[in-house]
Amino acid sequence: MKLPSNRFRRGRVPLLPIALVGLGLIAASCAPPVNIAAVPQAVNGCDAPTEDELVPEAPMLPGRNCLVCHSPDGQASRRVWTAAGTVYANADDKCNQGLAGVKVEIADATRKILITLTTNRSGNFFTSEPIDFRGVIARVSKDGKFKEMQGAMINAYCPECHYPGGIAPGRIFLN
Ligand code: HEC
Ligand code: HEC
Repeated sequence: MKLPSNRFRRGRVPLLPIALVGLGLIAASCAPPVNIAAVPQAVNGCDAPTEDELVPEAPMLPGRNCLVCHSPDGQASRRVWTAAGTVYANADDKCNQGLAGVKVEIADATRKILITLTTNRSGNFFTSEPIDFRGVIARVSKDGKFKEMQGAMINAYCPECHYPGGIAPGRIFLN
């Protein structure tokens, strides 16, 4: 007698997704404005953003320090990232030249992978997964190319160190 009851439930399920899509639209229409001028510390040597780069979606503002806004006190406090950034082919590439399809891994000191992300069309990656930062390392790879950050990170605010003139030798890159 399980089959009829499954069918019955399947018939009722669509109501929930429809309700969630409705909520999503309401949430999207309430997205706070993106004001890069208000946070010069997020600019990271990038050119002034295009209209497209200011749209509050995943490819936004490549190369900038996402975490300045995506933090509890920032403009995007509803979307706090634990790790985020942009990957390039070269250490001194322009911000809008990010590399898509790069695998970004955060691993613990024993090289056990904790989080795997893939860069999107603007080269951005981000996560809100909790990360235990004690002794973590970062790796990037694509098409047989591979780079690993040897020093352990204290956080995964990658663009805070990775920009031309930053603590790290330029942007996160894979060449
Ligand atoms: C100048 C501030 C600022 C910077 C810098 C910034 N963002 Fe955003 N971002 C926002 C705001 C504001 C929103 C809208 C948040 C909301 O809807 O509550 C947003 C939304 C997003 C969203 C959509 C979230 C969702 O679930 O709707 C993603 C993904 C995102 N940003 C990723 C990034 C990444 C990756 C970076 C860095 C490469 C970045 N952002 C840099 C301000 C910023
Ligand atoms: C506290 C500053 C800091 C943070 C945060 C940081 N890095 Fe780094 N990164 C460095 C420094 C310094 C180097 C160069 C020395 C080394 O390899 O450890 C480096 C090197 C690298 C390299 C290797 C570059 C090469 O040419 O071999 C990669 C890849 C990298 N980082 C990725 C990342 C990613 C991804 C994140 C975020 C998850 C991140 N880094 C966060 C400072 C930082």
